[in-house]
Amino acid sequence: MFEVRSLFRLFWVTAVASAAMTVPAFAAPAQASGGGAKPKPAATAAAPASKVEANLLQLMRGVLYPASNVIFAAQDDLTKQPKPEDASTSPNPLTTTYGGWQAVENAALAIAESANLVMMPGRMCSNGKPAPIGRADWVKDVQRLREAGRAAYKAAQKKDTDAIVEVSGTLSDACSACHDVYREKKTGPQDRCLP
Ligand code: HEC
Repeated sequence: MFEVRSLFRLFWVTAVASAAMTVPAFAAPAQASGGGAKPKPAATAAAPASKVEANLLQLMRGVLYPASNVIFAAQDDLTKQPKPEDASTSPNPLTTTYGGWQAVENAALAIAESANLVMMPGRMCSNGKPAPIGRADWVKDVQRLREAGRAAYKAAQKKDTDAIVEVSGTLSDACSACHDVYREKKTGPQDRCLP
């Protein structure tokens, strides 16, 4: 538990520091890189750098599920996607302005990034139980998810359909490994997120 918490603190501080570099509202003083200047403490930030907005179920439905469907769809010929009326408003990621292989890359990155979201302290399961982010097997399952996302990103960058077919299996296994333990509860949804 302690280890995960301190890891998160490191992540949070890094996130604040990098946000300060790109978001003018943080008004961070310009820092010379490699000049030995110590970064200012983040205590002056007006709002917390991160805040949980969804329960785990909503996060799964909103981010992981649609993103993995894009990867799974990319096992077929992408040019056979239905043509949208207007690519700038298409609700199908594969047919938007950022469609085709670009959409597959984006979905892969969304999955890799979702590993960070699944690990956020304060993320609750739909039954009110906290997501078990301190458990070693949960951390391992999340790492598997992250690696599947990274592998999908590489396959998409290469526009390699065979690699996407393979990575689709890896991805779906990563989802199931965690679901088998933490979602599919014979005793009912009240026991989700419990070991
Ligand atoms: C580290 C564990 C973990 C991983 C990895 C994971 N899930 Fe989940 N998922 C859960 C848990 C736990 C729930 C139940 C959440 C709740 O009820 O709040 C869930 C719920 C869901 C749901 C909602 C089910 C419902 O009842 O409506 C969907 C959809 C889903 N996951 C899709 C995915 C997909 C797709 C992947 C892989 C890309 C994935 N999940 C990876 C743990 C995980």
